[in-house]
Amino acid sequence: MNYQVNEKGYYGVFGGAYIPEMLYPNVEELRTTYLNIMNEPSFKEEFNQLLKDYVGRPSPLFYAERLSKKYNTKVYLKREDLNHTGAHKVNNTIGQILVAKKLGKNRIIAETGAGQHGVATATVCALMGIQCIVYMGEIDIKRQAPNVARMKMLGAEVRPAKSGSKTLKDATNEAIRDWINNPVDTHYIIGSAIGPHPYPDMVTRFQSIISEEIKWQLKEKEGRENPDYVVACIGGGSNAAGTYYHFLEEPSVGIIAVEAAGKGVHSGESAATSQLGKEGIIHGCKTLLMQTPDGQITEPYSISAGLDYPGVGPLHSHLYKTGRGEFYSVTDDDAMAAGLELSKLEGIIPAIETSHALAIFKEKKFKPDDVVVISLSGRGDKDLDTYIEYFKL
Ligand SMILES: Cc1ncc(COP(=O)(O)O)c(C=O)c1O
Repeated sequence: MNYQVNEKGYYGVFGGAYIPEMLYPNVEELRTTYLNIMNEPSFKEEFNQLLKDYVGRPSPLFYAERLSKKYNTKVYLKREDLNHTGAHKVNNTIGQILVAKKLGKNRIIAETGAGQHGVATATVCALMGIQCIVYMGEIDIKRQAPNVARMKMLGAEVRPAKSGSKTLKDATNEAIRDWINNPVDTHYIIGSAIGPHPYPDMVTRFQSIISEEIKWQLKEKEGRENPDYVVACIGGGSNAAGTYYHFLEEPSVGIIAVEAAGKGVHSGESAATSQLGKEGIIHGCKTLLMQTPDGQITEPYSISAGLDYPGVGPLHSHLYKTGRGEFYSVTDDDAMAAGLELSKLEGIIPAIETSHALAIFKEKKFKPDDVVVISLSGRGDKDLDTYIEYFKL
């Protein structure tokens, strides 16, 4: 089995670039240049230097002793929450801003759900002195207010998306519209492993630093590079893709994906894409997509703004269809309980997105000597209001 993208941009039957004619020059420019740019020694040097000195990598791999004891297995947390800006998203925005500079672009646009990708984009734009416009659903602007303030402080303009469910999908629609209208000077920094080829592959490669580090960190701690399982939450799938990347072709490593079941998979208010989705096209790629029988996109729902997306990246659709990945979906309630549990057991308040991955212990029992690495994709500061309201703190 091959889990790399092929020359046409497909993972099995998923992926490709289904784009309007007007976007073709931009996407084609990126497709024909991204690998050459990423492989240039000067690019690699600058990327790695910024990851080290600006982001603070490597992020620690932390043995969670009390959590391990509670679930009678060995749990390691990959601390992406400790990155500058508080999540894994910055690994990708550092990479893409350097690509944009190489392509001579002087205007950046982005979409954001939880605001973490928006903040990470606004941050690298401030760092490089480049104009930044972030599209965000009106509902997300309300539920992720601290991140909206951060983006503004960093000099970005936050434009509300007012259509549909007023969340991530709608913000992405607006960003694509902007790109169509500004094809020459603008680069669109997509924040997840979604979109037309080459985005899913480019984002996955930038995020693959996560599994690259897990390998040598685990070797130091356990004497072996491969864990028994890697676990990550999935919105579009960028922290998951980065966490899985160097283990995809290692059959002994179990790959576990956790999606948002919202109020229940069959409640009509969910974002459990792999279980509910059918093959369809969203934001430029063929993937599993929640849709009505006549092909209209179903409005997704999750308490977490970053998982509130009706599709999933094409790599993950492929992992699901081929059976390489085990897919679970957990409800708002189970995720919130898992977030509180981590706070109390390990002194780490996770992002609500991340709390979904932590709820895996309710879904699956591991063996005592299993080594389970969970991607701690982000910190919970942005979610305090939601936690406070939910737990009546
Ligand atoms: C902390 C955190 N984790 C996970 C996600 C989900 O995105 P992805 O599936 O691309 O990793 C987000 C999205 O905003 C996030 O902020």
